[in-house]
Amino acid sequence: MKTVAIIGGTGHQGPGLALRWAKSGRYRVIIGSREAAKAHAVAESLNARLGAPLVEGMLNAEAAATADIVVLTVPYNAHSATLESIRTQLAGKVLVDVTVPLQPPKVSRVHIPPGGSATAEAQALLGDAVRVVCAFQNVSATHLSNLDDPVECDVLVCGDDKDAKAEAIALAEAAGMRGLDAGPLQNAVVVEGLTAILIGINKRYNADGAGIKVTGLP
Ligand SMILES: NC(=O)c1ccc[n+]([C@@H]2O[C@H](COP(=O)([O-])OP(=O)(O)OC[C@H]3O[C@@H](n4cnc5c(N)ncnc54)[C@H](OP(=O)(O)O)[C@@H]3O)[C@@H](O)[C@H]2O)c1
Repeated sequence: MKTVAIIGGTGHQGPGLALRWAKSGRYRVIIGSREAAKAHAVAESLNARLGAPLVEGMLNAEAAATADIVVLTVPYNAHSATLESIRTQLAGKVLVDVTVPLQPPKVSRVHIPPGGSATAEAQALLGDAVRVVCAFQNVSATHLSNLDDPVECDVLVCGDDKDAKAEAIALAEAAGMRGLDAGPLQNAVVVEGLTAILIGINKRYNADGAGIKVTGLP
């Protein structure tokens, strides 16, 4: 069984993903944090919901070192510093970047960061030793954490390595969603930008879980 670690998994997006991956029985799941006690506390609360000790908590670096696949769920202003803090542990692995380069307070406007996208910045920072893909930017934490409901969203996956994209698509499927190969890493700018659009739609339509579904596929 592969191990997936969620760096910054103590916030909004990480716990819902952890719950769904742990419940699937397909992955060993680790919550990473800058504080060990916080990681343990979140893991314990998820295990209480799951009714079994399926999720572990660790410091980010230990979590990244232990994992086969590393998922990053931190705010954009913590993106590069967090990657720097685990870059040694990431060597040879797949990094699934969930980060959206939002620019508060105008979080419903698309913001394109200097490196083209958060995902492209991660790949540039980490170099060829790490295969970076983007995924899960368009899925709301509210849906993910409500384990009783299916998540009616597709997960667009972009990256330059086919096998790494397949890992992210498998993670999407384990979490109960359809993962779609959305092309090269260059396309991540659109996937990340869609999140700002969905946040705006949530605000205008008084919702908290707008998502996307691709139609017309067999
Ligand atoms: N929430 C959503 O519905 C949603 C949906 C799609 C995409 N996203 C994207 O996913 C990412 C995570 O979202 P989120 O809502 O889970 O974020 P969050 O709750 O604000 O933060 C997640 C975790 O990041 C760590 N963190 C926060 N500030 C940090 C800093 N300055 N330096 C280092 N680590 C820091 C914290 O972990 P520790 O304190 O434990 O280290 C925190 O629990 C974001 O880029 C967001 O845009 C979110």
